[in-house]
Amino acid sequence: MKLCMIGTGYVGLVSGVCFADLGNDVICVDKDNNKINNLKKGIIPIYEPGLEELVLKNYKNNRLNFSTNLKESIKKSDIVFVCVGTPTRRNSNSADLSQVYSVAKEISKSINKFKIIINKSTVPVTTGDEVEKIIAKKVSRKYFSVVSNPEFLREGEAIRDFIYPDRVVIGSNDVKSKKILKNLYSPLISKGAKFLSTNRRAAELIKYASNAFLATKITFINEIANLCEKTEIDVEDISIGIGLDKRIGSRFLRAGPAYGGSCFPKDTKAIVSTADKFKTNLSVIKSVIKSNQIRSDILQKRVNLILKNKVKNKKISFLGVTFKANTDDMRDSSSLKLIPYLSRRGAQIKYYDPTGFKKEFSKLKNVEFSQSIQDSIKGSDLIVIHTEWNDFKSINFRKFSKNKKLIIYDMRNIFSPDKIKKMGFKYFGIGR
Ligand SMILES: NC(=O)c1ccc[n+]([C@@H]2O[C@H](COP(=O)([O-])OP(=O)(O)OC[C@H]3O[C@@H](n4cnc5c(N)ncnc54)[C@H](O)[C@@H]3O)[C@@H](O)[C@H]2O)c1
Repeated sequence: MKLCMIGTGYVGLVSGVCFADLGNDVICVDKDNNKINNLKKGIIPIYEPGLEELVLKNYKNNRLNFSTNLKESIKKSDIVFVCVGTPTRRNSNSADLSQVYSVAKEISKSINKFKIIINKSTVPVTTGDEVEKIIAKKVSRKYFSVVSNPEFLREGEAIRDFIYPDRVVIGSNDVKSKKILKNLYSPLISKGAKFLSTNRRAAELIKYASNAFLATKITFINEIANLCEKTEIDVEDISIGIGLDKRIGSRFLRAGPAYGGSCFPKDTKAIVSTADKFKTNLSVIKSVIKSNQIRSDILQKRVNLILKNKVKNKKISFLGVTFKANTDDMRDSSSLKLIPYLSRRGAQIKYYDPTGFKKEFSKLKNVEFSQSIQDSIKGSDLIVIHTEWNDFKSINFRKFSKNKKLIIYDMRNIFSPDKIKKMGFKYFGIGR
């Protein structure tokens, strides 16, 4: 099939290249000239394991192409996937849909034969109805069908998640489009993905409800971790103990910093805002959002406590600053609150992240990027393990640090407290 992905970001690029690898002709379009020019030269705009090889392979065999020409790309395609951003609107909790609607207007000017228009972006309930109305102002409804096909991939595992999803959700009332899309996804369905067909609004809500539920699980275990810290219990035992119950399941029950990333913070806010619009109180999700916001303050207080309130001039090393491992995505990472806070309090901060320098910290006082773990750790009073990269899991702190009073704050509980204590260092984890 001939596919057009509008928006070549985490979702558009990954799903585009995977569809190409499954034998489709794919054009990935973006309004960002620089991004498209780089992709044509084989320079990948994001860090995602396995992505570069797959892009190079499919670009070389001409199944994958890149363009900034939206109109031409739409005209050449049978199926158009809208994969643009849906961030939180300024001064509000609702989703900013301006990118989706502006793309819908562009699409309406370029329909030259029947097309399936798919919202792959995460969009609130009824957005599909609006997109349909916008396009119908210019084109008869018999020439297009608007479908919701939410994406569930996780950054850092995106390719595997796309190829082996738990489920493919298609939200549409149009039988013909459903059949075409089931066929498009058949290579994934034959590998075990469940195919779920719903109406369009239900598919839109499935995505938000999934993200809100996962955010709730994380927030739940984070609050339990707070209790563990006061009762000399290791939260890891609790995670295992409750996760073994098949009704609960063990995933997303790892205590850590506040949840972040490009999805959970904005999507929890957006679902609450949608519900408010429909005069429905999602009180559970509201308290999850609040608890997650408070979590940053709790972690700041704990760092103060660990340093006995003497933060000024303390040398602090951050290992990992992205919101999770295997991605370069900094959106809503908890380090964006913690590092500026410690910088304001006069700490001298070095950070190392496997995905390199972060412009987000470039204007902060006494915050410096280190080229290696060793450089970052050297001379530190406190090491904060912020992100659970494999690179950090077997660091020999004794080899890298001569400081006998070194303190380790392991925000991901990747080390055994006993092992660190045996090395002679002070250890603090989360919920232990
Ligand atoms: N990142 C994830 O892990 C993830 C997972 C599932 C769903 N989603 C959802 O998918 C959507 C996209 O997320 P993302 O992380 O890929 O965003 P992103 O910011 O990485 O990429 C969006 C891209 O769209 C481009 N764009 C915007 N307007 C355009 C236009 N008019 N024409 C062409 N290109 C345009 C931007 O330049 C950008 O490159 C969001 O709704 C998000 O919630 C994201």
